[in-house]
Formats: sequence, C-alpha cells, structure tokens
Amino acid sequence: MVVVHLLDHERMSMTTISTGDSYSFGIVLREVRGQWRTLAFVVFLMLLGTASALVTPLLLRELIDRAIPNGDTAMILAIVVAMTLLPVVDVGLGLVRNYARASVGEAVSRRLRTDLFNHLIHARLDDIERTRLGHIVTVLTRSCGRVGEMFVAQTVVQSIYHSMLVVVTAGIMFTLNWKLALITLLAFPLSYLLAHVAGSRERRLYNEQTDILSSGQSYITEVFDNIKTVKSFTGESREMAWWEGWTRRNWRNKARMTAHHDLFRFGFWVAIHNVVRGLIFGYGAFEVVNGRATVGDLVAFLAYLPGLYESARRTLDFITEGEAIKASSDRIDELMALPKEKKSGARERVTKTGGSSVEFSNVSFRYAREGFGIEDISFRANPGEFIGIVGPTGGGKSTVLDLAQGFYEPLQGCILIDDQDMRDLSVRAVRSRISAVPQDAWLWNDTVLANITYPETQPDMALIEQVVREAQLVEFIESLPSGLDEALGPKGLDLSGGERQRIAIARALYRKAGLVLLDEPTSALDARTEFHLTAALDSLRQRSTLIVVAHRLKTVINADKILVIDGGRIVESGAPGELKRGSGLFAMMYEMQSLEPQK
Ligand SMILES: Nc1ncnc2c1ncn2[C@@H]1O[C@H](COP(=O)(O)OP(=O)(O)OP(=O)(O)O)[C@@H](O)[C@H]1O
Ligand SMILES: [Mg+2]
Repeated sequence: MVVVHLLDHERMSMTTISTGDSYSFGIVLREVRGQWRTLAFVVFLMLLGTASALVTPLLLRELIDRAIPNGDTAMILAIVVAMTLLPVVDVGLGLVRNYARASVGEAVSRRLRTDLFNHLIHARLDDIERTRLGHIVTVLTRSCGRVGEMFVAQTVVQSIYHSMLVVVTAGIMFTLNWKLALITLLAFPLSYLLAHVAGSRERRLYNEQTDILSSGQSYITEVFDNIKTVKSFTGESREMAWWEGWTRRNWRNKARMTAHHDLFRFGFWVAIHNVVRGLIFGYGAFEVVNGRATVGDLVAFLAYLPGLYESARRTLDFITEGEAIKASSDRIDELMALPKEKKSGARERVTKTGGSSVEFSNVSFRYAREGFGIEDISFRANPGEFIGIVGPTGGGKSTVLDLAQGFYEPLQGCILIDDQDMRDLSVRAVRSRISAVPQDAWLWNDTVLANITYPETQPDMALIEQVVREAQLVEFIESLPSGLDEALGPKGLDLSGGERQRIAIARALYRKAGLVLLDEPTSALDARTEFHLTAALDSLRQRSTLIVVAHRLKTVINADKILVIDGGRIVESGAPGELKRGSGLFAMMYEMQSLEPQK
C-alpha cells in the first residue's frame, strides 16, 4: 500500500513538472539519463550510510530488552561499539556521496549554462538589446545554478533515496506492530495536499525573487557603467535611495520566502508528527499494558517515527521544490525561446578575395519605436569603391550600416552582397566579408594586440605592423611602456577617445574583409591625424570596398560617391565635387563646415 501510494506521488509530480515543451527540463532529463549510474551510486551510498541509522533502534531494543536484563556484558559491549562506529563510517561515505551528488548537479548546471550562452550569443541583436543585461546575468548564473544544484543534486536524489527509506522504514514498522504503523500512515494524505499548496506559493515567491535579483543586477551594471555621469551630476543620493528601495524589496521577499519555507517544510510536519506521536503513545501504552507489545517494541517504534516523517517530508519536497525550481527553468526557457540568427544559407558561394560589392535595392526598415527607421534606400557600391554617407544626425546613417551587416532584416526591398541576396546567405557568410567600426567603438579588457587581432589568437605580425601604420597608431603604441602588449582597462576606458577609435580602426583593417564599414571613424581625431587616416583609407581601396559615415565632410571628400541621408531617405547622391558645386544639402553643409573658425 505504501509503495503504490509513493509511486503515485512520484508519477504525478513528474507529470506536473515536465509538462509542456520545457527546454531546460529537456536538458535536465537528458543529463539525468546520461548520468543515471552516478545517481544510482549516490543513492546506494546514501542507503548504505542510512543502514546504520536504521539498525540503531533495533540495537537499542536488543540492549533494553535482552542485553541489560540478562546482564550480558559481551553483548552490551558489542552493541555499544557498533552504535559508535556506524556513524563514523557514515561520515566517510558522506564525503564520496556528496562529491558525486554535486558533480551530477553541477554537470546539469554547466550544460544549461553552455546551451543558454550559446543560444544568447547567436540570438538576434534587437532581442538581446531589448533584454536587460542584469536579467541575462541572473538567469545564466543563478537560475541555471539552481536547476542543477537544487533540482538534480538535491531534490531528485533526495526524493529517490527518501522514498526508498519510507518503504523500508514503514516495512520495519509494520513488522514491529502493524496497528501502530497504520496510525502512522494517517499523516500521509494530509501532507501530500500540503506539499501541493506549498508548491504553487513557492513558485510565485521564487518568480518574484528572480525579478528582484534581475533588476538589482541590471541596476548595478547601469550605475557603475555610468559612474562618471552619476558623479558629475552629483546623483549619488538618488542612486542611494534607489538601492535602498531595492534592498528593502529583496529583504521583504527573502523573509517571506524563508518563513513560508519553514512553515510548510517543517512547521506543519512537526505539528503532524506530534499529534501522531501522541496517538501512538496512547495506543502503544494500552498495547503494552495488555501484553501485546513490549516496552522495547514501543521505544523502537517511536525511534523510527522521526526518521519516517523526515523521509516522507523529503520525498514530498519533490513537489514543493519542483515548483520552485520551475520558476527558474521558466526564465531559462524564455531566453531559450528567443529566435536565433540564421546559421546556414540556402545558396552560399565561396567568398572571393578583393573588394566585395554591396547593393541596397529599395530597402525600407522600421524600428519597434514607431516612425523611426529608413525608407526606400537604393545604392550600389562596386568592389573597390569608396562610398561616403553624410547627413543630419538621426537621419539613418548607422541604420544603413547595421542593415548591411544583417543585424536587422529589411521590411521591404533587399540587400545584395557580392550580388547574392543576403536572405540566401548565413550571417556568418555575410559578416566574414565585412569588418566594421561602430560609432561607439568598444575595446576589451585585454592587451592592445588582442584588441587588434580579435577574435583571432595567432597574430600575423607583418599585418599588425601595417594596420598600426594605417590607423595612425605607431607613435601611440611606441609611447606605451609595454607597446602592443600593454593591457587596457575595462572597456579600454583608460585611453583617450581618439586612441580607442584608432585601435578599433586597426581591428577593422586587420580583418582584411572585402567590405569595410566605418561609422564616424574620425569623430574623435585631431585635424592632422584625420588627414593621415583619410589618406590611409584612400589606399585601402585596392583591397576593400569602403563605406564611411562621417559628419566631417573632409573624411569623405575623396569618396567616389556620396549619399546624403536625411529623414531616413537618400536626398542627394553623386560625386563629392559635383555635390559641392550644387545647391543641395551637401553644398550647404560643406559651406558651413568651411566657415567654421580654423583651429
Ligand atoms: N535600436 C533602435 N530602436 C529604435 N529606434 C532607433 C534605434 N536605433 C536608432 N533609432 C532611431 O532611428 C533613427 C536613425 O538612427 P541612426 O542611428 O541610423 O541615425 P544616424 O544617422 O546614424 O545619426 P547620428 O548621426 O546621430 O549617428 C534615429 O531617429 C534613432 O532615434
Ligand atoms: Mg549614427
């Protein structure tokens, strides 16, 4: 009866937990299946260790009912030695057991983290940009950790082990006194109901806790990323207030969680346990008085009771914990559900060397924010050509470069790279032809060398020398104590804006791509450096096609063609000389820039 009852528990909770297409539970099941031997070994060791605990009450009965009344010294000694040694052996077994248990749990966490990271790094840019960084951090670290550590290492193993213990203990109790054993089992249906109620509450609290942690993480990254702004605007007290509010929310939820946890996990059980113990004492004493049981029987029976209830409680944890962990796995699943970028293209041709061509054909694109994007953009850059893009701020210049890299998909029209529709190419094929310097160039917390060769790890020194020269970095690198091996601080923030920008340009040139996209590469450079860099870019034409966005028209004055983009549309295009002589936006901008006071 007990067996059927318990199996039912397990089956039911398994179905409540693994319903739906939960990605993370799929991974858990796969890992658990793959490591069932280790899990079985852990359970075996646990049972072995517990054998001592189970034997102890029987030894106690022997001691009380036989050894002491008979004055059998040898037997007393043997029993005492056994009772002392068994727990010591258990400690040794515990060491092995815990290592194996943690290693299975951590293996699951590791698999979840690897898969999720792999998924996120291949997810689409706009989805990632919409997700708060703190949330990604929380899910990758805490949620993945919890599912492996709690669910596998604790809940699954414990439930299997304790359900076995329940069966064995109940069996022994039935042989001791079946009537008392029946009274004991009265507590089970009630506890089962309690576990269900506790589970759904636990899940709500854990969901809230993940939200709180995510928002805290995001906030910390944001504040310390922008610490300069906080300080220069003396925003410290505002930030302190926010953080205090956060700690209050966290503290409240944590306290509520712990109280809830204790009430359902222990409080109710203690109450049930005490009631049943009272019943057993009453009925048991009556049985002893009537000679149907011995005092030793009753003592042994009562000695088993806490163990039985503890095991039953831990078995039912499968339901309560499972629900709480579902809160974590839901968050993993949400991120896993983000679509990935296209990995393989239908008609991919081998990359050719030399400049790549790029063509926009009536391309329109809109951001999620209504009214923003580009409209009906068409142009072509032939291999080796230099195209300049200029225009008022917010016009859509960077958006054009983002589309060319396949970060977003056009709403209408198509983009051709080397005369192949980008939709037929994998993102890898597209981006392997491109190297880009974004408007806000970003460096790694690594050496100058590693920043230039990113992501390659085997530097080509001759090429490095060349790109360092082209990016006007020779003097700067010579001035560094360790030269190319100089380590940069986080985000390269220990460099000037212009130094960062030139390292980013060197990185783009090092890649030797067929299409080079530079978004305002000279915005932070002085006039002399700009002049030399522009000349170097000019010489790049032999090996690459070049598209340069610039506010300073001098940067693109050597271009073959200029596109003037305003309000998301190309409002003018042509050779710079032609446009300069005209009467359009370019001519006006040119005139205003030459009127700027000379520095
Ligand atoms: N991720 C985004 N989500 C929503 N709107 C965006 C996003 N990025 C840019 N925009 C909007 O799209 C328009 C074009 O932006 P874009 O960055 O292409 O302009 P830009 O021409 O490069 O401007 P600037 O010269 O200032 O760099 C802007 O009005 C901007 O507010
Ligand atoms: Mg821009």
